[in-house]
Amino acid sequence: MPNIVFIEPDGTRREIAAEVGESAMEAARRNAVDNILAECGGSCICATCHVYVAPESVQLLAAPEAIERDTLDFTAEDVRPESRLSCQIKLTPAHEGLVLRVAPTRRS
Ligand code: FES
Repeated sequence: MPNIVFIEPDGTRREIAAEVGESAMEAARRNAVDNILAECGGSCICATCHVYVAPESVQLLAAPEAIERDTLDFTAEDVRPESRLSCQIKLTPAHEGLVLRVAPTRRS
């Protein structure tokens, strides 16, 4: 059971006991983390589960697959080198201490 942290857009720090095998998006939704909308349910097509990996956590994650990078192109927020789709981060015990900043949503 990895303990992971989400930092919500307003700066609120949420520490969550995640389940091995679930995605970071699923852990966020199960714990009502703000602004993880996950409109496609984890199918990697909506980009509404966008997070920024904290610098201290970058080494905990493998590089994103091409489909994840392609979907990130459709997000409304700024895409940065540390951008990830939380639905594509499958959690293992090795993710203990993972810190993810939830991307803000731009509203027009
Ligand atoms: S939930 Fe839709 S891309 Fe992650």
